[in-house]
Amino acid sequence: MRFTGYRCSVCGSEYGESEPLYLCPKDQGCLDIVLDTERIRRTVKPSQLTGGEQERSHWRYLPLLPVDDPGAEGTPLRGVGWTPLYTLPALRSKHGLKAFWLKEEGANPTASFKDRASSLVAARALQLGAETVVTASTGNAGAAMAGMAAALQLHAVVFAPSSTPRAKLAQMLAYGADVILVEGNYDRATALSLDVSRDLGWYCRNTGYNPFTAEGKKTAAFEIWEAVGAGWIAIPQGVPLSIFVSVGDGNIISGIHKGFRDLEDLGWLEFRPRIFGVQAEGSAAVARAFHTGSERIEAVQATTLADSICVDMPADGVRALRAARETGGAYITVKDEQILNAVVELGQVGVFAEPAAAAAYAGYLRAVRTGQIGKEEPVLVLSTGCGLKDVAAVQRIVPEAPVIEPTVEAVKRLLKL
Ligand SMILES: Cc1ncc(COP(=O)(O)O)c(C=O)c1O
Ligand SMILES: [Zn+2]
Repeated sequence: MRFTGYRCSVCGSEYGESEPLYLCPKDQGCLDIVLDTERIRRTVKPSQLTGGEQERSHWRYLPLLPVDDPGAEGTPLRGVGWTPLYTLPALRSKHGLKAFWLKEEGANPTASFKDRASSLVAARALQLGAETVVTASTGNAGAAMAGMAAALQLHAVVFAPSSTPRAKLAQMLAYGADVILVEGNYDRATALSLDVSRDLGWYCRNTGYNPFTAEGKKTAAFEIWEAVGAGWIAIPQGVPLSIFVSVGDGNIISGIHKGFRDLEDLGWLEFRPRIFGVQAEGSAAVARAFHTGSERIEAVQATTLADSICVDMPADGVRALRAARETGGAYITVKDEQILNAVVELGQVGVFAEPAAAAAYAGYLRAVRTGQIGKEEPVLVLSTGCGLKDVAAVQRIVPEAPVIEPTVEAVKRLLKL
């Protein structure tokens, strides 16, 4: 048994491990998976999960995950996580930052953070004997589910809004998924995917619905914890590490919070990170609740060019709110223009981020500008997806490449040499 059961994040009701649950039957609250902390503490030492001897993927933390080993050695499923940590010296000196790190999640097999969740869901599907996994997606979750399903030779069905960027669609189709575009937005695609999964009995991956997604996303917290322990992220005594995360449905931020809470329950966490959520100004349901002091998330009519974080009603909003409140973090909103500027700034130091990913960095810059975070404070920004995912959005801000006649003279004229 890899976990003991589920606990509702709203009413606290507990459910056994054998009940195949998505949401709390009483109030539709998101369920946290409860680990057998006592057993883990007794049988596992942190040194067995960390260090150079371990697998260079997030499967190194398998004893803290609620799934059996999915096998699949030699496939991309086995390559999820253990993503690069950059210090970006040029960016540090440009802004006078003393302790800045960026974790490049675009380096995952399908080029976004969502592989962490989808690989766990694929492993769970394997365990349940499910042959078809269905998900709604703004693009990345679907691409990740399609890729991970392909690695395990499962069938994936993805419902996506008709506005989904072409690259993400091409990627899902290349992985062999059945991709169905839904008239309307992500929330409409979500509603349909739920109906279809109930009707056909397909295993549903939906973010903020399937409890296993957050369990995959928490592995980023484990990697940050390991990086701090190893000294790759240096935290001055008494100054907390601040982690910046882009927020749409709120499942990445709540998964990361869960990872740190698991470590704390095990007595293994030696530092207390603050978690900051960043939302686009036009899609800021969680940020709004944070700033009004409310516990309730009210839906918005979301519009932002950062398609991956364009969400009317965040499916994991309550836990996403807590991730910031309970850690001393905050919510920050950024304009689309600031997101595009962040794409360009990151590009100029060699990181190609899609708009939703660059939003976290834009939020960090805003926090520095407003004095919310000092330039000397240790900060980790998560860059959640590769820029190749949404080329059209980036083309809105980068200049057109000039076309010239193929002569050296023409080059010199153009570059004023
Ligand atoms: C690149 C990227 N960043 C951030 C997010 C936001 O994650 P969440 O919806 O769990 O808040 C997504 C979700 O699709 C994403 O694809
Ligand atoms: Zn409940």
